[in-house]
Amino acid sequence: MTKLSVNINKVATIRNARGGNTPSVVEAAVNCQKFGADGITIHPRPDERHITNKDVYDIKPIITTEYNIEGYPSEDFIKMVIAVKPEQVTLVPDGPDVITSCAGWDILKFKDYLKEIITEFKEAGIRTSIFVDPKLEMIEGAKLCGSDRIELYTEDFATNYTEDKEKAIAPYVLAAKKANELGLGINAGHDLSLENLEFFAQEIPNLAEVSIGHALISDALYLGLENAIQMYKRLL
Ligand code: PXP
Repeated sequence: MTKLSVNINKVATIRNARGGNTPSVVEAAVNCQKFGADGITIHPRPDERHITNKDVYDIKPIITTEYNIEGYPSEDFIKMVIAVKPEQVTLVPDGPDVITSCAGWDILKFKDYLKEIITEFKEAGIRTSIFVDPKLEMIEGAKLCGSDRIELYTEDFATNYTEDKEKAIAPYVLAAKKANELGLGINAGHDLSLENLEFFAQEIPNLAEVSIGHALISDALYLGLENAIQMYKRLL
C-alpha cells in the first residue's frame, strides 16, 4: 500500500504567526502518527519561516514511523540532515525566496553536483529521493545520480485533473513506468488532495509514498486531524 507522509509545515506556519509554541509541531507529529500517518515530512527553509532548524531536531525523537526531510541541499541543510539522520531526504531545487516548491530538478544540468550530495547522504545511511517533473530524461538522470527514489512533482497533474484527468495523469504513468524499469522507488507530492489522490494512486504503478501538506491540514480545519488523515488513508 502507498504510504501517507503528512507534511506539517503548515502547522509551523500557524505557530509562527504568533510566536510561542501553539500549535506545537511536535504534538502535531505525534498525533499524525497516532491517527494513522505512515510518516512525517518537513521542509525547513533557510529563513525558517515555517519549520525551524530547532523543529528539525525536536521532531526526530518522537518519530515512530518514517521521517522525511525535504529541502534545497545547501551546505547547512546537508550538515543538519546528516546530523539528524532521518529515514529519507528529498532534494528539492527551490531557491530561498519561493513560496513553495515550484519545479523539479534540471538533473542533466546538475548531475555531478547531485551525484556528489546523494553519495554523501547514502554513506550516512539516509535514503535519497529527488524531486522531478514527469519527464523521462529526468527519471533517467535520477538513476544516473544514484538516487534511491524519485518524487514526482504533481502540481501539473492537480491543476489539469478537473479538466481531463486521463490527459493529466498520462506523463506521470510514463514516468512511473520508466522509474519501475530502472528500479527507482516512486514518491509523489504537491497539491494532492481528497479530490485527486485516489485516481493518482490507482494509476501510478508501485507508488511507494505520497507526502501531503496543504490540502490535508486545510481539510483538518473542518474535519479534524484524525478524520482527515483517515480519509486520505482510505483513498490509498
Ligand atoms: N513535496 C515537496 C517537495 C514539497 O515541497 C511540498 C510542499 O512543501 C510537498 C511535497 C507537499 O505539497 P502540498 O503542501 O501541496 O501537499
